Order: sequence, then structure tokens, then C-alpha cells
Amino acid sequence: MMRTNSSIFHFAIIFMLIFETRTQLSDESEFLVNRSKTGLFHVPKDLSLKTTILDISQNYISELHTSDILSLSKLRILVVSHNRIQYLDISVFKFNQELEYLDLSHNALGKISCHPIMNLKHLDLSFNAFDHLPICKEFVNMSQLEFLGLSATCLQKSSVLLISPLHINKVLLVLGDTYGEEEDPESLHNLNTESLHIVFPRRKEFSFTLDVSVSTAVSLELSNIKCVLDDNGCSYFQDILSKLQKNSRLSNLTLNNIETTWNFFIMILQLVWHTSIEYFSISNVKLQGRPDLRYFDYSNTSLKALSIQHVVSDAFSLPQSYIYEILSNMNIQNFTVSDTHMVHMVCPSQISPFLYLDFSNNLLTDMVFKNCGNLVKLKTLNLQMNQLKELVSIVNMTKRMKSLQQLDISHNSLSYDENEGNCTWTGSLLNLNMSSNILTESVFRCLPPKIKILDLHNNRIRSIPKPIMKLEALQELNVASNSLAHLPDCGAFSSLSVLIIDSNSISNPSADFFQSCQKIRSIRAGNNPFQCTCELREFVQSLGRVSHEVIEGWPDSYKCDYPENYKGTLLKDFHVSQLSCNTTLLLVTIGVTMLVLTATVTALCIYFDLPWYLRMVCQWTQTRRRARNLPLEELQRTLQFHAFISYSGHDSAWVKSELLPNLEKEDIRICLHERSFVPGKSIVENIINCIEKSYKSIFVLSPNFVQSEWCHYELYFAHHNLFHEGFDNLILILLEPIPQYSIPSNYHKLKNLMAQRTYLEWPKEKSKHGLFWANLRASINIKLMEQAKK
Ligand SMILES: *[C@@H]1O[C@H](CO)[C@@H](O)[C@H](O)[C@H]1NC(C)=O
Ligand SMILES: *[C@@H]1O[C@H](CO)[C@@H](O)[C@H](O)[C@H]1NC(C)=O
Ligand SMILES: *[C@@H]1O[C@H](CO)[C@@H](O)[C@H](O)[C@H]1NC(C)=O
Ligand SMILES: *[C@@H]1O[C@H](CO)[C@@H](O)[C@H](O)[C@H]1NC(C)=O
Ligand SMILES: *[C@@H]1O[C@H](CO)[C@@H](O)[C@H](O)[C@H]1NC(C)=O
Ligand SMILES: *[C@@H]1O[C@H](CO)[C@@H](O)[C@H](O)[C@H]1NC(C)=O
Ligand SMILES: *[C@@H]1O[C@H](CO)[C@@H](O)[C@H](O)[C@H]1NC(C)=O
Ligand SMILES: *[C@@H]1O[C@H](CO)[C@@H](O)[C@H](O)[C@H]1NC(C)=O
Repeated sequence: MMRTNSSIFHFAIIFMLIFETRTQLSDESEFLVNRSKTGLFHVPKDLSLKTTILDISQNYISELHTSDILSLSKLRILVVSHNRIQYLDISVFKFNQELEYLDLSHNALGKISCHPIMNLKHLDLSFNAFDHLPICKEFVNMSQLEFLGLSATCLQKSSVLLISPLHINKVLLVLGDTYGEEEDPESLHNLNTESLHIVFPRRKEFSFTLDVSVSTAVSLELSNIKCVLDDNGCSYFQDILSKLQKNSRLSNLTLNNIETTWNFFIMILQLVWHTSIEYFSISNVKLQGRPDLRYFDYSNTSLKALSIQHVVSDAFSLPQSYIYEILSNMNIQNFTVSDTHMVHMVCPSQISPFLYLDFSNNLLTDMVFKNCGNLVKLKTLNLQMNQLKELVSIVNMTKRMKSLQQLDISHNSLSYDENEGNCTWTGSLLNLNMSSNILTESVFRCLPPKIKILDLHNNRIRSIPKPIMKLEALQELNVASNSLAHLPDCGAFSSLSVLIIDSNSISNPSADFFQSCQKIRSIRAGNNPFQCTCELREFVQSLGRVSHEVIEGWPDSYKCDYPENYKGTLLKDFHVSQLSCNTTLLLVTIGVTMLVLTATVTALCIYFDLPWYLRMVCQWTQTRRRARNLPLEELQRTLQFHAFISYSGHDSAWVKSELLPNLEKEDIRICLHERSFVPGKSIVENIINCIEKSYKSIFVLSPNFVQSEWCHYELYFAHHNLFHEGFDNLILILLEPIPQYSIPSNYHKLKNLMAQRTYLEWPKEKSKHGLFWANLRASINIKLMEQAKK
């Protein structure tokens, strides 16, 4: 027992420890203090001890002291670039054991004193004022170092040798403005890095002899090559390039910021053509003069991809066709010429190996690759941001590109005129980007038959016409930012799975959409002017039936635009009841409600005999009202009984067992003619005697009574005209229904009374007896009145 307990206890502690470590770790990775560009002259003193990332770049800090950062024991990343530090003792970081990333670039450092920082992975000392390479012998112990940024005006082999045991990923070497006076061309020979980037002094004619063909480098980048004066075709730089052949490992070459002549530019291409380089990139080129080299040797190249970006030329008229010929016949797979002012590109003179061409952001016209049958291997062509105008020309251009799968002609001025000509795209096209043009709905009559991904956003499409060719392979359609009023019907696009149709003019999207487009996996339809009325309700409901992951941007970009009082309301929060929307439903509902009500009332009548109750209650209230006007004292003086009861002998059982007990238990005195019989008088006389001494006369009516007894009273009634003031003193109890025909035709009075229905009906149901008795007692209300008086 004890053992189990203690092991649970241990387990708990271990668990807590793990948990604690986790939370600390996540805290650590999050604590960033960014005081970049805040005008600091010193390292701030108010830093949290938890700081792991500190950015104090772009300030005026001129000194770093141990005390500044001593307490930041968790510091991992420190960025102090773009400040004014002139001297650094690396030992100031000796207490920052976690420090991995230290950026001291763009300062004024001329000198450092050394101290190994074991964990450092990234050390940037580039763009400083060092004369000699800031490499100390302690660096050799920074075995984790991945990036090393250096700057110097003088390179020494011995310094480089110090770090040659390290396997650095990338070295950035910035040569100061005065570099080049006493060069040792071999100074970099022992550099051990996979990737080397050398920044030559700016605005200085290239006259360096530095051998940059570092044997370990796979990738080389050279920046700031200015070579405009040398009529020998920039012999210094040529020498450097030709030495690259020595390093067969080198596969990537990037040249940045080149200022030279057209001739030398082509020569650079030619030189690189015969090296081991596979990926060649040239950017930010400024060219002058006119090209007059007429021959390019394409043989024996390793080159796979060439990228030329951002070229400006100061020559106004160039023999351009010659340049286009050189470029178009390059025997490489990937070719990019972007952001130049190129206006044309000719067809390669023979079957070209081009697979990927990116000619974006130029000035190409509809004439590009016109009638070109030699680009049969081309898979991807990017003509984004050019001067293309007529879609028909572009369609015609693709016609013979049998392998073309992907075409980007976005950001042009393309329109399609159906009358202009035949629209037959190359059948291989799968991905077509025609966004940001001026196309209208007619474009739907000019689409590649096997297209899978079609981007038509930001055009002038007002509708997706119904009778278009079937695009059964179409999976993704982007028609955002057009003027569409409806969601498309997927009849023609049976495979559509992604639809982007936001920012159109859709006010009442059809609820049938998801029915029609069964394969939809994603729809983005936000930012449309939704009309939040009844019609929209069904659409919102149909949205509810699909998973919310399918509806991109839900709920935030789906808002009502109309009516005014709903404007800005999220569709998610727009509720209108089904009833107020559906007229038929409304009518049916009202009808059904009425029916139910009628049925209920009928059932109540039949089951509870509602009319009987109503009559009873009505009579009760009438009696109570009449009772108030009685001349009470006078009555009390002359009367001995509350009521006289007359009945047929056949009904005497009910009278004796029901009526009498129920009245007499309330102290109602009853006169029965046989009970209060005065001897020597006739029955009629006795009855009359009884009537005269009673306040009320109760007649228990039944067919028997009518047959046998009524005649006794007819005479009396006729003589005494008892009813001349209405029938106030008469109470009729209908014990059993009396059919009209059974009343003898000369009994006018009885017929009259029956017709007026001023009788109390004896209910057969026991549950109604209570009310019957109450009503009867209320009719004989003299006693109640007496009590009320007391
Ligand atoms: C600090 O903020 C600046 C912008 O003020 C930003 O450029 C920089 O990347 C931020 N630093 C870090 C480490 O996030
Ligand atoms: C490098 O570290 C080792 C062992 O940690 C030490 O013996 C050696 O002196 C260090 N080298 C330098 C140059 O600091
Ligand atoms: C060389 O360039 C290619 C294409 O740009 C790139 O994928 C590759 O990573 C680069 N290799 C090196 C070592 O930089
Ligand atoms: C190309 O290589 C072939 C054999 O590999 C060689 O004979 C020819 O001289 C080379 N051409 C050039 C221009 O280097
Ligand atoms: C050519 O470019 C395409 C698209 O960027 C890329 O997928 C492919 O790997 C590139 N091929 C080579 C040989 O660089
Ligand atoms: C389309 O190309 C064919 C040749 O492929 C050419 O004869 C025709 O004139 C071109 N049509 C248009 C409109 O450019
Ligand atoms: C089409 O090109 C535009 C830029 O012009 C880009 O933003 C968009 O992502 C491209 N569409 C596709 C489907 O690649
Ligand atoms: C359209 O092209 C097809 C096949 O290329 C051809 O059969 C048809 O005659 C052409 N029609 C017009 C009007 O040019």
C-alpha cells in the first residue's frame, strides 16, 4: 500500500517537472523586445530578465558593456545592426550562455577583442570599418557557426586559415572601399563554406584579382561589378569568371548590381555557359552601348536555369532582334527575363528545350512567339504584366505548344472579340491565369477544353453564360472581383471543387448551388452585396448544411448590404422566420390554426356540453340581478315557504331522493301539496293554498307531468293571472326532454314557456349536478338575501 502511494507521488512530481519545463520553454521562445529605431544612445536598462530576443537596431548606440546585457541570461537573439559601435570586446557576452544569433552589421567597428561564444550560430560583422578580417583564433571553437558575416579592406590568408576547420554554411564578405591596393589573390583559398557572397566596393571599376573559386563552395554570389571603362572586355572580371571552371562543385552563381556594356554582358553569359554552373541568376543590371557580338556558343553547358531580372539599358536604339535571337535559342530548361524593357521575343530557330519561361513584367505585345512551332516542350509560360491585347492572338500563339500546361497572362489588357477569329487553344493547357484583364463574359466561349484551374478574377464579366462548352475537368474557378450577379450553375463544370467568387454583385445567391455543384470543397463568396430578404434565407440555410471549412471567410466577410436596417449584419446573424417568408405556408398555417380552434370548440361543446353550462351561468346571473330588486320585507310577512314543488307521480322518486334533500339541507322550506295537505279542501284548492304561501313555484317538467298534471294549473293560471309580471316566481325544471308534439295543442302557456327556454335542464352527467343545484338555489334566493341583510 505504502509502495503504491509513494510511486504515485513520484510520478506526480516527475509530471510536474515536465510540465514546468514545457511552460518555461514556451515562455522563452516568446519573449521579444523590439526597440528598433527608437533613438537609443545606450542599451536600455529596463529590459526584462526573461528577454530572449532583443532588437536594438537602427539607433545611435556606440558602446556595448558587460553590464548592459549581463542579466539577460536567457538572451538567444541580439540584433544591434545599424548603430555606431566602434569597438567591441566579445567577452561582454560571456554571461549570455544561450546567445545564438548576434548581428553587429552596419556599425563602425574597426577592432574587436576575442572570446569564444560556444553556442553562436549566426555572427554578422559585415559592413563595418575593419581593415583586416575580424577573425580570431577563438572562433575555431564556435563549432555551431552556420553564418559568418565579415568585412575588411585587406584580406589575409592567415586569418582565413583560422576558421578553415569550421564547416560554415554561408560566409558574407564585404570588401571596404579601399580594398584592392595590396591584394593577395589566393587569400580565400582555405575558406571552408558551402555558400559565399562577396560584396565588392561600390562605384569602383572592377580591377580585382581575388580568386573567388573557393573549392568548397557550391553557391557563389558576387555583388557590385562595375566594368564600363575597360575596352578589353573587363579582363579582370573575365579572369575571375574563367577561374570558376576550376571548381566543379560550383552549381549556383548569382551576380548582383552589374554596370557594364551589352557586349560584356553577353560575354559573361558565354563564359558561364562553359562552367559547371547549373543555376545562374543576374539581377539589377545597367547596360550601355550596343551589342555587336554576333555569335553565341551554346555547346557543352551544364546550365539548367538562367534568370535575368531588372535590366535597364541606356541605349535608345538597339539591334534588338539579334539579342532576342541569342536569348530565344538558349539550350536550357528554365529561363526568366523579368522586369526588363523587352518588347519582343522571337521563336527559337529549332526545337527548344525550354520547359519553363518567365517573361513577366516586360513590354511584350501580341506578336510574341507568333506562329512558333519550336516550343513543343514548353510546359509553363508566364507573360504576366506585359502589353498583350487580343486574346485571339494568344490563343493562336499556344496552338502549336503541344506540351503547354500552364499559362499566365494576367495583368495585361486582354479582351476577346468573338468575331475576330477561331478560338482553339492548345489542348494540353490545364492551368490558365487570365486575371486582371478587361475580359467580358464572351471569354467563356474561348476556353481550353481540358482546363483544370482557371483564374479570371478582376475582369469585366457580368454573367457566366449557360450554353458554353462543357469544361468537365475544371476544378478551380476564380471569378472574384467581376460584376457577376449570380452563382454559377455547375451543369457545365461537373468537377468544380473550388470556387472563388467574392467581391462581385451577387445579392440573391441561389440556394440550389450546393445541389448543382456537388463536388465543391471550398467556396469563397464573401464581400458581395447580399440582400437580406426572404430569398436569401434559403441560401443561408443551404450554407448551414455544408461544413464551415468549405465556406472560406465565413462568417466575417459575409454581410448584408440591403435592406438599410440590416446593412453590415453578418449573414450568420440574419434570421427571418420561415413563416413570414412563405405565403402559402402562412395561409396554410392560418387555416390550420382556425381548423384546430373550431375542432377544439366543437369537441368542448360535445364533450362538456358547453352550451348547457353557458345557459346555466346566464340564468344564474339573471336571477342574481332580479333578486336585488325584490321588495323583501313584504314578501317575508306573507310567505311560509320558500318554494312549492309540483311534479308528476312518475317523477316522485327523483323529487324525493334528489330534489328535496338537496334543497332542504340548505334550510329551504318546501311546500309539497300532499305533505301540507289541508283536509276538507280539493286537491286544486290545496295546491293553490301551497302556491300562495310560497315564494317560488317549482315545476318538475317531464312528458308524464305534461300528460297528467299540467291541467290542474291551467285553470288556476287563467284565474289568477299569476304570470302577469313575467315569470319571476316560476321555476321550471326540465327533468326529461319534452318533444314539442307531445304537448297538447291548447297548452299555449306551456308551449310559450318551453319556447323561451327559461327552464333549468336536469343534466344526466353527474359532474354537472353541482352547478345545477347552485343555480336552483340561487333562483330561490330569499334566504340568501335574509342572511345578507343580517
Ligand atoms: C523590430 O521592428 C522592426 C520594425 O520597426 C522590424 O523591421 C524588425 O524586424 C523587428 N525585429 C524583430 C526581431 O522582430
Ligand atoms: C577550444 O576549446 C578547447 C577545449 O574546450 C580548448 O582546449 C582550446 O584552448 C580552445 N581553443 C581556443 C583557441 O580557445
Ligand atoms: C541553387 O539554386 C537553386 C535554384 O534557385 C536552389 O533551389 C538551390 O537551393 C541553390 N543551391 C544552393 C546551394 O544555394
Ligand atoms: C565540348 O565537349 C566536347 C567533348 O566533351 C569537346 O570535344 C568540345 O571541344 C567541347 N566544346 C567546347 C566549346 O568546350
Ligand atoms: C524550373 O522552374 C520550375 C518552376 O519554378 C521548377 O519547378 C523547376 O524545378 C525548375 N527546373 C530547374 C531545372 O530549375
Ligand atoms: C493563327 O495562326 C495561324 C498559323 O498557326 C495563322 O495562319 C493565322 O493567321 C493566325 N491567326 C491569327 C488571328 O493570328
Ligand atoms: C494568377 O496571377 C495572379 C497575379 O497576377 C496571382 O495573384 C494568382 O494567384 C494567380 N492565380 C493562380 C491560380 O495561380
Ligand atoms: C476554326 O478552326 C477549326 C480547326 O482548327 C477549323 O476547322 C475551322 O474551319 C475554323 N473556323 C474558322 C471560322 O476559322
